[in-house]
Amino acid sequence: MNVPTPRSFSYVKRNVPEVTVEQRERALKATHYNEFAFPAGMLTIDMLSDSGTTAMTDVQWSALFLGDESYGRNKGYYVLLDTFRDIFERGGEKNWKKIIDLVRTDCKDIEKLMKEMYLCEYSGGLFNGGDAQLERPNSFIIQQGRAAEAVLMEIVKNILAKRYPGKVFTIPSNGHFDTTEGNIKQMGSIPRNLFHKEILFEVPEGGKYEKNPFKGDMDIKKLEQLITTLGVENVPLIFTTLTNNTVCGQAVSMKSIRETAKICEKYDIPLIFDVARWAENCYFIKMNEEGYENKSIAEIATEMFSYCDGFCMSAKKDGHANMGGMLAFRDKGRFWRKFSEFNEDGSVKTDVGVLLKVKQISCYGNDSYGGMSGRDIMALSAGLYESCNFNYLDERVKQCEYLAQGFYKAGIKGVVLPAGGHGVYINMDTFFDGKRGHETFAGEGFSLELIRRYGIRVSELGDYSMEYDLKTPEQKEEVCNVVRFAINRSMYSKEHLDYVIAAVKALYEDRENIPNMKIIWGHNLPMRHFHAFLEPYPNKPEEKKDEDKK
Ligand SMILES: Cc1ncc(COP(=O)(O)O)c(C=O)c1O
Repeated sequence: MNVPTPRSFSYVKRNVPEVTVEQRERALKATHYNEFAFPAGMLTIDMLSDSGTTAMTDVQWSALFLGDESYGRNKGYYVLLDTFRDIFERGGEKNWKKIIDLVRTDCKDIEKLMKEMYLCEYSGGLFNGGDAQLERPNSFIIQQGRAAEAVLMEIVKNILAKRYPGKVFTIPSNGHFDTTEGNIKQMGSIPRNLFHKEILFEVPEGGKYEKNPFKGDMDIKKLEQLITTLGVENVPLIFTTLTNNTVCGQAVSMKSIRETAKICEKYDIPLIFDVARWAENCYFIKMNEEGYENKSIAEIATEMFSYCDGFCMSAKKDGHANMGGMLAFRDKGRFWRKFSEFNEDGSVKTDVGVLLKVKQISCYGNDSYGGMSGRDIMALSAGLYESCNFNYLDERVKQCEYLAQGFYKAGIKGVVLPAGGHGVYINMDTFFDGKRGHETFAGEGFSLELIRRYGIRVSELGDYSMEYDLKTPEQKEEVCNVVRFAINRSMYSKEHLDYVIAAVKALYEDRENIPNMKIIWGHNLPMRHFHAFLEPYPNKPEEKKDEDKK
């Protein structure tokens, strides 16, 4: 048979509302054309973000019921940290401890629980446990990715400001996410995105690559050039985003991660991962990079995480959960050494982990839950294991490619190929035949028109959201003027994707009539796309008027 074998099915159904174009127009006006403010309950398909929008599995829903809502050291705290150790540090399924099963099976053996869960000591990795976590805190549950970034950036900013008053720093990445850029700018530093733009929008003959070309890789040459030009003392951290969301969700190869880590070692700069989509990235490595084809997702994850000095994580993506996040750094590693203060005899004067913990407690709650409910912690732990399931990942990534190929075959110009791991991106410069300038924010016009006509919401991640007009000439070169069709995890069928393909095809054929947008309030606000007010204006009004006269 020439059809794939089904690998999952749903037990829960939600009906889609019937909404008219006129009703959507009223809602767009009432919400000042801010797509984040458009009511989700009036949409046919919502592809704004894959973040926290996952349809959880039955195993996760059952784990949710086992949530322990105690204020201090709830069971989920131990389970979550050890889930991370299982997947990110233990070298694959064969070494998993899976202490979540002690909770699932309602273990009553206190001696066993003390030995395997409550009083376990861990040190030296990304997740200290027991006394080591109290003495040298290095892993922090924080309810979502941007909050983890904000905690990290605030502490780094304070330390640097004290050591080098008035100095401006640069933080490079293969592609910072918009909130990461926002957090870096708010700490007074400059974010830079060093990826291979020259290959990003290349389209292969027939629309298909034989192997994924890892377009999300860091441009290592540019990275080293930046460090040597600016001076190593001006680059306090290097980021790597896996997969590279801003760069069209493209995968990052293990080779690139290894090379980035080597540069970090050479210049003694901590390497921080942004790992919202760690599992999808491991999938791409398994399927496309030599030497990884026989390794499991967890085995690949362990190698991947061995290269970082710390990470920020939104667990709302590859945690297969609706809420969650994490901040961690390697015990006594480079980040700890660079940002802690030491006495002359080498003893610790101020531990950076303690500063991070103070910030965590004052903003999000104590370290046992960090802003998450006990049930969310349990659902996330179960979800992290679900994300290691090859069949699930294979189904998911192939859905993205199906949508991308659907656009390509429909003749829509600008679709980024191959598809990312969590969605499909269209280059708006190509879509509009290079006819719309950066000041038109036509990509945002496209997004809003897709809502108005067809009830489909996507997210603009280009000139408007990435603040093209507010950037330096070098930073402008690093903007990808794209919109993203994010695919929610475990939620959509082929039917949904076919509807989207048909809608975008129709819109493409009428692209001349997609309006441009102007910002009428909030132009200079940080992360303006979350709150600015917009207004549409017609494309080429002069020509249109002339035509009307004829
Ligand atoms: C790469 C990346 N980093 C960070 C974030 C921020 O995470 P959160 O939405 O959990 O705050 C996101 C998503 O929103 C993301 O895609």
